[in-house]
Amino acid sequence: AWGEALRPRQVLLASPRSFCAGVERAIDIVERALERWGAPIYVRKQIVHNSHVVRRLRERGAVFVEELDEVPDGATVVFSAHGVSPDVRNVAAQRGLAVIDATCPLVAKVHSEARRFADRGDTVLFIGHAGHEETEGTMGERPDSTILVENLEQAERVQVPDPSRVSYLVQTTLAVDEVEEIVQTLRKRFPLLGAPGSDDICYATTNRQWALRTVAHDADVVLVVGSANSSNSNRLVETARRLGTPAYLVDDSFDVDLDWIRGANTVAVTAGASAPSALVDDVVTALRGLGPLQVHEREVTREDIRFTLPKEVRGS
Ligand code: F3S
Repeated sequence: AWGEALRPRQVLLASPRSFCAGVERAIDIVERALERWGAPIYVRKQIVHNSHVVRRLRERGAVFVEELDEVPDGATVVFSAHGVSPDVRNVAAQRGLAVIDATCPLVAKVHSEARRFADRGDTVLFIGHAGHEETEGTMGERPDSTILVENLEQAERVQVPDPSRVSYLVQTTLAVDEVEEIVQTLRKRFPLLGAPGSDDICYATTNRQWALRTVAHDADVVLVVGSANSSNSNRLVETARRLGTPAYLVDDSFDVDLDWIRGANTVAVTAGASAPSALVDDVVTALRGLGPLQVHEREVTREDIRFTLPKEVRGS
C-alpha cells in the first residue's frame, strides 16, 4: 500500500481535443470585426457554445443577442457558427443590417444538401436535437419538407408522404455510433433512402469521439471540458459512458469535483470543439493539487484543416 500511494496518478489527454477550424474561424471573425469597426459588434446567439469564449468577447465589446430585433438599425451583426435559417437572413436584409456570416462551412454544406434534397422532391429526415440552433437553421431551409428525427424510437415511427422519396441529413455534432443505428433503422424502413454525399457529422466531432474512445477504455474516469449547451461536448460525455467509464462535463477546473478523482488512478481528459485549450491546462493543474501526476497525450490523428474567412474581415 505504501508503494501504491507513491505511484503518480496518470492523466491521458485525448488528441485531437478543443477548438475545431469552424470555432477558430467564428471567434476570429468577431475579433476582426471588433478591430475593424470597433465596439459594439452584435452577435446573434452565442458565437460558439462556450461560456468562456462568450465572456471574453463580451469584455472586448461584442454584444450577444437572441434575435435580430435586439440589433439597432445600421449595426453590424455576426451570425453564429451554428448557422441561421433563410428567414433570419431575410429579416437582416430587409432591415439593411451589415451581416458577417460565421456559419461553419461544414454546417453550410448540410444546408445546401437540405435544399438540394427537398427541391428534388424528397422528404428530408433531419437527425438532430430539437431546439438546437443548428437544427433550427438547417430545418429552416425547407421547413415544409423536413422532419426532425431525434432518436431511434422516432426513426422507427416517422411517417413520410412517399416512402420512395426520402433522404436523411445529420446535425454536425452528434455521436457517430448513435447516428449509425438511427440510419440503419431508417434504411430498413425506406430502402431507397438518400444519403448525404459525405458524412454530415463533421471531421472535428468524429476525431474527438475517436480520440476519446481510445483513452476512455484505459481510464477510471473521464473529464470533458465544455459548456452545458455544447452539443459535441455532451456527445463526448455520452460516448465515454456508453463505454462504461464514468464521465463528467466541466465548464472549467472549478467544476471538477475531487470526489470523482480521488479513487481514480487514470483520468482521461478531453475538450469539446468549442472549449479553449487553456481550460484543459487549468484542469490538469487542478489535478496536480491531488498529488503527483504523469501526463500522457494520445494522438489518434492530426488535424490541419483551416477555413478561409468571409471577405468582410479578410486581409490583415
Ligand atoms: Fe464546424 Fe464541426 Fe466545428 S461543424 S464548427 S468543424 S464542430
